[in-house]
Amino acid sequence: MMTSPATVLSTPWKINGLTIKNRFVLSPMAVLQPTEDGRPSDQSIAFLVRRAQGGAGLLMVGGGAATSRGVSEAPFQPLMRSDDDRYIPDLKRLVDAVHEHEVPVIHQIFPSFGAMGIPGEGRPTRAASPKPVHMGAPRLPNGFFIPGGRTNPTPEEITKEEILEVQGATVDAVRRCKEAGFDGIELGAHMRYLYSSFLSPRTNWRTDEYGGSAENRARILVETIRAIREEVGDNYPIGVRMSVNDHLPDGQGPEGYAEVAKHIAAAGVDCIALTDGNYESMDANLPRESGAILAHGEAQIFRDALPGMPLLISSTYDPEQAATAVEEGIIDGLMLARQLLADPDFPNKILAGRESDITWCDHNNSCLRRLIFNVPVTCSKNRETGRESGAGARKATLPQNLVVGATGSPVLMGIADKLASAKSKKVKA
Ligand SMILES: Cc1cc2nc3c(=O)[nH]c(=O)nc-3n(C[C@H](O)[C@H](O)[C@H](O)COP(=O)(O)O)c2cc1C
Ligand code: SF4
Repeated sequence: MMTSPATVLSTPWKINGLTIKNRFVLSPMAVLQPTEDGRPSDQSIAFLVRRAQGGAGLLMVGGGAATSRGVSEAPFQPLMRSDDDRYIPDLKRLVDAVHEHEVPVIHQIFPSFGAMGIPGEGRPTRAASPKPVHMGAPRLPNGFFIPGGRTNPTPEEITKEEILEVQGATVDAVRRCKEAGFDGIELGAHMRYLYSSFLSPRTNWRTDEYGGSAENRARILVETIRAIREEVGDNYPIGVRMSVNDHLPDGQGPEGYAEVAKHIAAAGVDCIALTDGNYESMDANLPRESGAILAHGEAQIFRDALPGMPLLISSTYDPEQAATAVEEGIIDGLMLARQLLADPDFPNKILAGRESDITWCDHNNSCLRRLIFNVPVTCSKNRETGRESGAGARKATLPQNLVVGATGSPVLMGIADKLASAKSKKVKA
């Protein structure tokens, strides 16, 4: 490339009317340590402020449960909540603190966790079709080992009435996010959460208007986005996070996903964040190498299908690769998750040409193991992460290279019972 990565990655861009000062985006992560009742804590705010200080041009706040269904079935605990007006003042406190650093902040919300939810007494999980999540042992990310893999409880097919119920609750949650001052929202439609189960024919076998053609599989999101748009008006940024590829032998590839994305885009979405794989192909979702989504051509297929749509990509932390993709017009923003846990100053260091000072993520996923065990997330390469408020993360020890022996986790496998006993034995919270 002709221009230096710092020059390219320092250029501003826009999502709807929102100007973002550079290309670095904090990828949404459920690492915020909110209060037990789902409000942002001082630590939640300190974590985000630290990433704003480190140079990220946009923060995406991860892991928000947006509806009463989402709260009751949430696989990660506790999550920040937006299912009631009483959460607005605390959400506003978070937004105001980030805005003091002149960085915009978007709230990612999860209306329902679909087949990844935890079922309860008389409360089965719901998805497009009754297809459970199967985590095959060879498809787990680095640092995980589950002999024989694991299969989640089978969800029930969600009814049209329930779809509309979730939609109404989602619109209410977005209104709350807007009232709290968030600069936009992102609907989590990836990983096998509710919306994503509709997008791929592998997990959507419906014969009603929500199944079959790409247009029908996009319908749940199209209707939800239109309803949100009606509530928040034309100028409020609405994003969607979706997969580009199931990476499974019977799964949907990038052309199929891009076809669905065209319908979603036409409903009035302002940006699409591209992730790879899902809970059944976690090796693709949490790669070690930078830039797979570019190397496999998936981002380019989305760009061709959606000219002019702001696109963000995951797991491309190599500055040169990222800058080339921006310069070639393939992508607009660079989502960084683990690298900003390992080094919140990564954006500033790249922009200042101080690459030799960067603390690089080791991709051993100790952070993710902690998330799965509902232990406050810290980082093995950065002692400050998870303790930014100075209060110190709750003490918890997890064995490195944890073998999730015949147990697994509620997040990945929906088997909370075995985890609960493992957790109480191994983890002193
Ligand atoms: C500890 C942890 C928590 C995460 N929580 C979320 C989340 O709440 N929402 C989401 O969309 N992705 C979540 N992710 C996925 C990341 O946003 C990102 O897609 C993934 O880590 C791959 O990007 P990376 O290679 O930059 O880490 C999480 C990842 C980690 C490691
Ligand atoms: S614990 Fe830190 S270094 Fe290890 S994978 Fe997570 S972010 Fe990277």
